[in-house]
Amino acid sequence: MKTTIRTKFEAFYGGPGALYTSPGRVNLIGEHTDYNLGFVLPGAIDKAIYLELKPNNRDQVRVYSVDYNETVEFGIDSAEKPEQQWAAYIYGVIKEMQKRGAVPGGFDGVFGGDVPLGAGLSSSAALESVVGFALNDTFDLGFDRMQLAKIGQMTEHNYIGVRCGIMDQFASLFGQQGKVLQLDCSSLEYKVFPFEPQGYRVLLLDSQVKHSLASSEYNLRRADAEAGIAVIAKHVPGIESLRDVTFEMLEEYRAEMEEIWYRRCHYVISENQRVLDACQALESGDYETFGQKMFGSHDGLSKEYEVSCPELDFLAEKARRFDGVLGARMMGGGFGGCTINVVRDSEHDAFVDEMCRAYKQAYGIAPRVIDMVIGDGACRLE
Ligand code: GLA
Repeated sequence: MKTTIRTKFEAFYGGPGALYTSPGRVNLIGEHTDYNLGFVLPGAIDKAIYLELKPNNRDQVRVYSVDYNETVEFGIDSAEKPEQQWAAYIYGVIKEMQKRGAVPGGFDGVFGGDVPLGAGLSSSAALESVVGFALNDTFDLGFDRMQLAKIGQMTEHNYIGVRCGIMDQFASLFGQQGKVLQLDCSSLEYKVFPFEPQGYRVLLLDSQVKHSLASSEYNLRRADAEAGIAVIAKHVPGIESLRDVTFEMLEEYRAEMEEIWYRRCHYVISENQRVLDACQALESGDYETFGQKMFGSHDGLSKEYEVSCPELDFLAEKARRFDGVLGARMMGGGFGGCTINVVRDSEHDAFVDEMCRAYKQAYGIAPRVIDMVIGDGACRLE
């Protein structure tokens, strides 16, 4: 991909630009907790979006997408969002930077990547992050990585219509090879944990179900949780998010809530605890317990938060019964995309064969198998 980008850039603009990259992410545990100001445990992956870029000294942005084989051009100060969704991400990042007082200049760019699209690996966050990182570096805008993550997140809110949390952009910008990052989404402080289960590896199985419902349902989940918080906040001063809510409070005011709000809130509080427990297990090298927490996370996502789907439940259940799998669960926003599995090296092939066979029998299509390793976050490539 890098070579293709270099070649296209040279051909279009007659000379090289600077090449940047920002990766997709996995999340080991802590799902739908970020926008509830709880804990997540993501890592960056070795699949990324690459962007080559060069200032053009005009106030125009001109970008070619390798994957879509099209060029979009718009004025850097344009008030009109481009029609193409991929270009809207770039436009949104620029607008969010401008809102914060920065003045990025016009540029020519070519981008593409190998983050599988629509598989829940945050290709969109990778795009926002690489654009933010590259513009920040090229035009010396002075943002730090956390500010770039927020710029990406607000691009989703304001230009894409998904009220996402900060996990994906954070992971894409802060990732470290072989490490997972426990982010406290309230304070935005994070702790780094090595993730090196000896004799095991992380494997993704893409259900191939495209999460088309995802953004509308995603925003609804967020609203359910907010409704639950509002009930408790009427009684308990200072409650601003589910982070401030205990199981005791939830039980005490349960009668005033719709059952569904209760379940959503119960899931989030439980999932936060699972992240903390899982990290404690990591500290003592207890991957067995870690895996159990992953299974618990899947159950909660499926039954309480209701963001799974039959295909993901099938994959998670089947993995749970497979000897040699430490943990497995659906990953990301849900309604499709991948499961994440921690599988014994020696069982890898047998696991893949069995999962493909069974899934194909049930759904007529094999899952896409995505082998990956945990890699580094955004950077400039030489
Ligand atoms: C999507 C969002 C993230 C996060 C996950 C669920 O990936 O972009 O912010 O909420 O879903 O954990």
